[in-house]
Amino acid sequence: MRDGAAKSNPLREADKAHHLHPFTDPKHVAEFGAHIIAHADGVHITDEFGNRLLDAMAGLGGVNIGYGRAEMAETAAHAMQELAYYHSFSAATHPAAARLAEKLIALAGPAFDRVFFSNSGSEANETIAKIIRHYWRRKGRPEKRFFIARDMAYHGSTWLTASLSGLPHMHAAFGLPEGDIRHIEAPFWYRNGGDLAPDEYGLVAARALEEAIADIGADNIAAFFGEPVQATAGAIIPPATYWPEIQRICRANDILIVADEVVTGFGRTGHWFAHPAFGFEADFMTLAKGLSSTYQPIAASLVSAEVADAIAEGGAFQHGFTTSAHPVAAAVALRNIEIMEREGLVQRTATELGPMLADALEELTDLPLVGEVRAMGAIAGIELAKDKAKRMQYPLELGVCGQVAGQTLMRGVIVRPTGNALVMCPPLTFEAEHVETLKAALAEALIVVAGQLGL
Ligand SMILES: Cc1ncc(COP(=O)(O)O)c(C=O)c1O
Repeated sequence: MRDGAAKSNPLREADKAHHLHPFTDPKHVAEFGAHIIAHADGVHITDEFGNRLLDAMAGLGGVNIGYGRAEMAETAAHAMQELAYYHSFSAATHPAAARLAEKLIALAGPAFDRVFFSNSGSEANETIAKIIRHYWRRKGRPEKRFFIARDMAYHGSTWLTASLSGLPHMHAAFGLPEGDIRHIEAPFWYRNGGDLAPDEYGLVAARALEEAIADIGADNIAAFFGEPVQATAGAIIPPATYWPEIQRICRANDILIVADEVVTGFGRTGHWFAHPAFGFEADFMTLAKGLSSTYQPIAASLVSAEVADAIAEGGAFQHGFTTSAHPVAAAVALRNIEIMEREGLVQRTATELGPMLADALEELTDLPLVGEVRAMGAIAGIELAKDKAKRMQYPLELGVCGQVAGQTLMRGVIVRPTGNALVMCPPLTFEAEHVETLKAALAEALIVVAGQLGL
């Protein structure tokens, strides 16, 4: 697949010399150089060697409408000519920002009333955390400072959002987590559920929140942060009982709920937003990725009228980014939403792609290494198991998941290894033939790696 990787290429040399990559082992880049992606169209990306790869990850789970849409490029070009930039500080705005805010509130429903724009999911979550602190101070309860998040959560990579994330490998090098943050058990039935039925376990996992409250004190807790489906952790889909119980506990203790829908927003689960489908009402929602199908960096933090009005009493809101509500990104996001609506991509994900993907992956269940298949709409995970009956996993140091993803890539398909699970978040435009190609590549890859492990 990457036969040409050894060939010298001045671009790779420049990258190797000067590009510090996110979430990458620098030694790997120093030794092998980076994989140069040259082009993308539809559901495929093409690398410098002309390898055309089926992208079952839609980049990092965000290219929901697929790559290479000419009207997105035309929208960006037009927007840039019209108004390349203006800020939104000090009561300035522009047409695309006003229209996008209005559109997002219409899509998100009456629980939300106002939108703060930023550039990334991390910034959207960081913004919400600051708004929540500000809100409780305005309410005369400054002691409500703690944030509760879950093990294996991913909320971003800034100081606070990395701290909120429940991934030890993201903390080790930086002395994180820092701040008033507590992690509770992830609602991960396959790993933590033991002999309980999933719905019984959902209640047990949610009640871990009560233990944290008993320890910290409800008066000190500001909010609960959660992804409706934990994507980075391996597409963990909680049991149906989990979120309603979390909501009950939060409401009983005056704890606000943040739905981090950076991955799950914009159709990924077959709904515009996932949290209503899991049976809970969020006080805040954060969005990025699918908001512009990642054609432009743009993110949004949605708040209720009550919160917005409370912080309005506090004078100027002292927070923002030079490129908050960037006019080109906002115009591109509006076009992205228009395309999703025109093509019915959310509905299609619920009724066509979702069932097709779930059925296809389900067929892999009996193959060696496959412990569990999880799927909802266009997000899916395959949990690998050393011993299926005991739900035992391979030691992560063995890198079995990475080996399966590598074998899948050699068959021309991109999936994402995360710890012990393979994650798939394809574009919502994936067709039956793409699902078949994905299934066939995964099946071969699983069999090859199982053979290498002597199974
Ligand atoms: C659920 C969730 N929240 C937040 C983020 C952070 O988004 P960004 O990488 O745009 O900062 C991610 C990124 O993958 C995510 O999956």
